Amino acid sequence: MRQASATMRRHMTRCLCAAIALVASVAAPARAQDAPSASTGQALFATFCANCHDGTADSRAPTPGELRPRSPAAILESLISGAMRVQGSRLGGPERRAIAEYITGKDTGR
Ligand code: HEC
Repeated sequence: MRQASATMRRHMTRCLCAAIALVASVAAPARAQDAPSASTGQALFATFCANCHDGTADSRAPTPGELRPRSPAAILESLISGAMRVQGSRLGGPERRAIAEYITGKDTGR
């Protein structure tokens, strides 16, 4: 009887480890997508947008401060079908969302 329960315990431990490993592997990519969004958006903005949207007086482009009150959806729309569609076409969907969230400081809800 002791023998059997020891085997059982070993088996349970192995199952538990497998379950934890599975949960960890499913949860990790989700975290990776959420967490770096702000810093990724900042880096993307610096690379693809800041050379025009830097707030210098001779630029026609709105400054980051002027864009901030807009909704993330409005930024996305501009990048997909509006005035910035050429700039937006160089980016993937997650990158556009990261930039829109960085500019507005709001979640796109996606
Ligand atoms: C080559 C310079 C340039 C780059 C690079 C650039 N923009 Fe612009 N952007 C402009 C100019 C100029 C305007 C004003 C356009 C207008 O009013 O017709 C503008 C306008 C905008 C607007 C307001 C559009 C509207 O419909 O009111 C948004 C939002 C925007 N840019 C976001 C971005 C983002 C995000 C990036 C980076 C992915 C970016 N832009 C890259 C020059 C640039």
